[in-house]
Amino acid sequence: MKVVQWIPVLMLVACLFPWSVESMVRHYKFNVVMKNTTRLCSTKPIVTVNGQFPGPTLIAREDDTVLVKVVNHVKYNLSIHWHGIRQLRTGWADGPAYITQCPIQPGQSYVYNFTVTGQRGTLWWHAHILWLRATVHGAIVILPKLGVPYPFPKPHKEVVLVLGEWWKSDVEAVINEALKSGLAPNVSDAHTINGYPGPVPRCSSQRGYTLTVESGKTYMLRIINAALNEELFFKIAGHKLTVVEVDAAYTKPFKTNTIVIAPGQSTNALLTADIANGGKYMLAVSPFMDAPIAVDNVTGTATVHYSSSNLSSTPTILASAPATNATPVADNFTDSLRSLNSKKYPAKVPFKIDHSLLFTISLGINPCSTCINGSRVAADINNVSFVMPKVSLLQAHFFNISGVFTDDFPGKPLNQYNYTGIQPANLQTMRGTKLYRLTYNSTVELVLQDTGMITPENHPIHLHGFNFFVVGRGLGNFNPQKDPKKFNLVDPVERNTVGVPSGGWAAIRFRADNPGVWFMHCHLEIHTTWGLKMAFVVDNGKGPNESLLPPPSDLPKC
Ligand code: C2O
Repeated sequence: MKVVQWIPVLMLVACLFPWSVESMVRHYKFNVVMKNTTRLCSTKPIVTVNGQFPGPTLIAREDDTVLVKVVNHVKYNLSIHWHGIRQLRTGWADGPAYITQCPIQPGQSYVYNFTVTGQRGTLWWHAHILWLRATVHGAIVILPKLGVPYPFPKPHKEVVLVLGEWWKSDVEAVINEALKSGLAPNVSDAHTINGYPGPVPRCSSQRGYTLTVESGKTYMLRIINAALNEELFFKIAGHKLTVVEVDAAYTKPFKTNTIVIAPGQSTNALLTADIANGGKYMLAVSPFMDAPIAVDNVTGTATVHYSSSNLSSTPTILASAPATNATPVADNFTDSLRSLNSKKYPAKVPFKIDHSLLFTISLGINPCSTCINGSRVAADINNVSFVMPKVSLLQAHFFNISGVFTDDFPGKPLNQYNYTGIQPANLQTMRGTKLYRLTYNSTVELVLQDTGMITPENHPIHLHGFNFFVVGRGLGNFNPQKDPKKFNLVDPVERNTVGVPSGGWAAIRFRADNPGVWFMHCHLEIHTTWGLKMAFVVDNGKGPNESLLPPPSDLPKC
């Protein structure tokens, strides 16, 4: 029989025995609805997917095609991003509003259609418009291909732990108020673990999440930082954790007391319930901030409970959260991260570099006559505060619509100064919708340089459409003569969101093998709002396999 004749037979086999085929199509329906929810002893309506907070976990296997029909039943414009999914040639399904699509308007729907290629591990999805991701988010679990084991002993069970931030008031009101005043928004009122903060002051009825374990068994925790504005420490009293994967890329396993996780990042860690006497142990989630910036200081707590111990009468062994500004604890964790770089999972670090870029990451101050101080806080990359367009950049790119963006984003700061030295006199930023253009398959080295404009601060920078390798990291100003000599080009950690250290820099490398328009921004939502964002436009290569697919027919209109 010819190949074509086999197709119906294979399709029939796939329908009758779905477990017998390597990959499959998975359908999900996300109804975005308001839901009354009680946390911190008060009730408020929040935007949710299917009434759940956190939202439903999306499960797929490597190579599966995922179709998610998102129906917008709320009063806000909406879009959903599949954070960390590479979206090879399917930028239309990436989700950032006005970057790859116009938002889904109230009453409308859109089917996100993408294939999971070359990835397995934990990622997540979230709303990518306004501040809706505060409550509109959930896990993505990508299982290895059928029959392919993990490169570590199979855990007894797997547990998703989504970390978040909770405001007592309406989150959209919080950001609108901040934008009106020109000042920073109110910090959150609690940190949540799978939606629950644990007991908090003045609300003793508030319960926490409980993870029940069996003595002697190993659990894989799939930890996601879905918080809006805070990097977090994560630890469990009396237990060490073995990190095996970050951002859906395997790492060399290492043991740690404390995990550091920035908004946007995910971490898989093995927890062995190795305490013979059992008991109850606190799981603590607390903020990491090593700059003079206000954070929500309430530690979120959950309980790891051994099934052999009585849940109500056993006292909980407390965990001591690291100091908020414990930079050494954070560095110790970050410096331990290495790609697994095995034969099966090699680290394909680009050696020859086509584009060598230096981007400064700053806060700034712009005049604002209606604001409280006559000025407003801004944020920028290479001094450009990104202005969101009115139609999506990907549409403008694909259909050649002129006047939407320019491709003159500066590859180096236009104004060179001692970035991490004394504060420059001029804190003003310029505004523009500027993109940086890359030819297909070109290689990029990007040094992300924090600055002392207003204050140095740790920024988790997220790149859509790619994974990158973090080849170096340091304090002060990046030195192009000395620092590259220390780059790790062998087994640097591979990820999609990198923490640029306060008053320092991080160097990443990636290959532009995905045609389309790809957003890059700080995953601290307030910084994105203030303009700390830009996008790369990657041209098509040769032939259909290196070209962006045409847009789906139901792509929302602006
Ligand atoms: Cu997780 Cu552009 O975001």
